[in-house]
Amino acid sequence: MTAVAPDQLTGTALRFPQGFRWGAATASYQIEGAASDDGRTPSIWDTFSRTPGKVFEGHTGDVACDHYHRYRDDVAIMAELGLGTYRFSVAWPRIKPDGSGPVNGRGLDFYDRLVDELLAKGISPMATLYHWDLPQVLEDRGGWTNRDTAYYFADLAAAMVAKLGDRVATWTTLNEPWCSAFLGYASGIHAPGRQDAKASFEALHHLLLAHGLGVRALRAGGAREVSLTLNMTSVRPLNPADPHDQAAARHIDGLQNRIFLDPVLRGYYPDDMRALFDRFGAAHVIKPGDDAVIASPIDLLGVNYYQPALVRAKIGATAGLTNPGSEGIEEVRQPHPVTDMDWPVDPSGLYELLMRLATDYPDTPLMITENGAAYADVVEDGRVHDTDRIGFLEGHLRAVHAALSEGADLRGYLAWSLMDNYEWGYGYGKRFGIVRVDYDTQRRTVKDSARWYAEVIGRNGLE
Ligand code: FCB
Repeated sequence: MTAVAPDQLTGTALRFPQGFRWGAATASYQIEGAASDDGRTPSIWDTFSRTPGKVFEGHTGDVACDHYHRYRDDVAIMAELGLGTYRFSVAWPRIKPDGSGPVNGRGLDFYDRLVDELLAKGISPMATLYHWDLPQVLEDRGGWTNRDTAYYFADLAAAMVAKLGDRVATWTTLNEPWCSAFLGYASGIHAPGRQDAKASFEALHHLLLAHGLGVRALRAGGAREVSLTLNMTSVRPLNPADPHDQAAARHIDGLQNRIFLDPVLRGYYPDDMRALFDRFGAAHVIKPGDDAVIASPIDLLGVNYYQPALVRAKIGATAGLTNPGSEGIEEVRQPHPVTDMDWPVDPSGLYELLMRLATDYPDTPLMITENGAAYADVVEDGRVHDTDRIGFLEGHLRAVHAALSEGADLRGYLAWSLMDNYEWGYGYGKRFGIVRVDYDTQRRTVKDSARWYAEVIGRNGLE
């Protein structure tokens, strides 16, 4: 971006459109705990977190935020903050303990109770069907490299919409298939921890197939609004005038964004990405007719944004495990302050991303389904003065507003996360919540950022 729009200047009062949806997000494995309650079987994250050396200090999601037992208190906090939407995910191994067979009523009842509690407090539930906790029994049969998994996912979608479709207005098939495919099967830093480029492309295609089949199952069950959430970013060339850097950025943009966006919203893999399936011997998983299934229309695209990427061409650079086929490309450190994740803080990346989506995929309404920051919070006199998180949120909301005022069709914003939780490979070591969780006592403390966010929601704008 060349100039700073007035929207992005701190101190400029801004109002969001009427009906703009405000809320927060979480995910099942990160908060629920109750790992073996009511018939739940292990997911790939239970297995992975128990594998020595995979997760910070061997942390597991066994207890997490104990949300499974404390959901009423957590919903009360959401209501106190004035959230209009709550995005949660469904733990597949609670619903179908053997992955593909009968529905476990006791597991399903948890989400039934949660949804009723939300509605009773005037909060609209938004359910994600897959936020990474694949039943381990399915991984034992190949996980996402097995085409059957996509069909089992559609069965899960059908079971969920049959039970909750009368009360859940918005459904999301998958959260961030990029992470499932490339972190799960290529770099192995996420469950199931495989390091196999071929498997990562097989998994990617089956995830997209699962999405398409899931959309169809949700529609057949009467779902009102159906979406997919992707983690996307703006990929920038270090030297914008250098054609090699431009090509490097284009390639990483392909792996991060276009390999998902194009099949879902245009009906085909872009040629450069299709070539990677061939190169890694994974093209055999793409069957005739899959493209139409994957492109089943959606009503909303969920955007998870955390940071932009900066890349350059570098002769001899080896391909990072996470980005198969990206030889000769190097990621460059960015000149921005960083969060506790060491992720650069740059709201202009979100603005750029939203404008790009609005331009390249103009017919799809957008919603920010995750945005937020980890900081090493300190508790002082029972309060958490997390001004850095407030700054992060404000900067990004200003970027969102700038995109809105330039015409992006953006329906809402959900903060990641409602509360501190199990941050995957980082265990409980990173805190993204606007509500603090003391993991020894399970005590919740509303941070200053949550109070600030409640005011933003209350006035539907920034001061
Ligand atoms: C996203 C995940 C979410 C959380 C945030 C920080 O990639 O969807 O579960 O871990 O990052």
